[in-house]
Amino acid sequence: MSKIKDHTLAEKGKAQYMWARTHMQILTHTVSRLKKSRPLKGATLGVCLQITKETSVLLVGLQELGAKVVCCAGNPLTTQDDIAAFLDSQGIQVFAWSNQSKSEYDWCQNMVLQHKPDIITDDGGDLTIKAHKTKLKILGATEETTTGITRYQSLAKQGKLYHPIIAVNNARTKMLFDNQYGTGQSTIDGFLQAMNLLFTSKKIVVAGYGWLGKGVAKKCQGMGAKCIITEVDPIKALEAHMDGFVVMQMSKAVKIGDVFITCTGMRDIITKQHLLSMKNGAVVGNVGHFDVEIDAKFLLSQKVRQVRPNLDECVLPNHKKIYLVSKGRVANLIASEGHPPEIMALSFSNQLYSILYILKNHKKMKNQVYPVPQEIDEQIALDALHSMDVRLDKLTQKQITYHTSW
Ligand code: ADE
Repeated sequence: MSKIKDHTLAEKGKAQYMWARTHMQILTHTVSRLKKSRPLKGATLGVCLQITKETSVLLVGLQELGAKVVCCAGNPLTTQDDIAAFLDSQGIQVFAWSNQSKSEYDWCQNMVLQHKPDIITDDGGDLTIKAHKTKLKILGATEETTTGITRYQSLAKQGKLYHPIIAVNNARTKMLFDNQYGTGQSTIDGFLQAMNLLFTSKKIVVAGYGWLGKGVAKKCQGMGAKCIITEVDPIKALEAHMDGFVVMQMSKAVKIGDVFITCTGMRDIITKQHLLSMKNGAVVGNVGHFDVEIDAKFLLSQKVRQVRPNLDECVLPNHKKIYLVSKGRVANLIASEGHPPEIMALSFSNQLYSILYILKNHKKMKNQVYPVPQEIDEQIALDALHSMDVRLDKLTQKQITYHTSW
């Protein structure tokens, strides 16, 4: 039996599900096409994703393909309780509610593992790592995030990866769109909702110029902000410089920035020392997977007052007021609802095809991190183009011969 916050929210959740589904056609078309053969019949899927309206479209789809679906949340704070109630009303077992403590979050993951999933679909790696620690034997796992993949690569290097993983995050139809456009838009939404301040003319410091940082910086620039990038990777820093952004060290940026957004996946990006050097009134927030990028512990141990939903005023010993978005946790999912449905349709099509791939091919797969097969990636791009009524050219035979001749 599920454990959720409030079963009476199911109708509200259904309306959200219907809205997202309308805008996730490439995923729903794939489910309709495969439904008759029920390719997931007999499989138990343990899913650890952000419980959002977009995720509900994936989970209902997996169930329609014959799977038993058991899910928990990929983050203790981000569950949308109406969606959890809707999923439960559809016969999906849900162990998730908003604002969980660490022990509640752990308990929910244990409940999913108790169902002995054949395949795990993870967002960040917490469930898969727990399955490793409890020596649970599974056929394989799919992973939604850069953070999760980094963790499995460390496991693999130490020879401790016990099953194959498909790195959904690294598919081009995932990374180029979800990480860039999805995070770009949902970050702007989250910061706007938290602050409701003008972006135009603000100096916004974006830490990290990977796909997340790029997406966030471009959107901030589009809103009229003056964007400053901080980086440790020389190639990414050069790219940011050539893209027209000012690149500088964080120790310099802290003195001039109005808003700081961390997008690195690394710890200790904005430290106590940085916070003490900031201007009075600066706003800081994070959209990386874990809340390790900003020293929120230091901020929240000061004199703190909530000024708006998801915005805390922290008065430092030097009397400066620094404002923290979503307690330093993933702001685009807490202060906003995460990426929009059109983007998640791409990411979750990769999830669906990767789950089917593991089920069919697990016997010949090794205990390593695999990319999403290129045919799948390209098919998803074609489906997406079709759904947007965009047509592309095809090489002629003459062109193919030209290309392969020497
Ligand atoms: N990660 C970022 N945005 C998301 C969304 N809308 N649903 C599920 N996972 C997400």
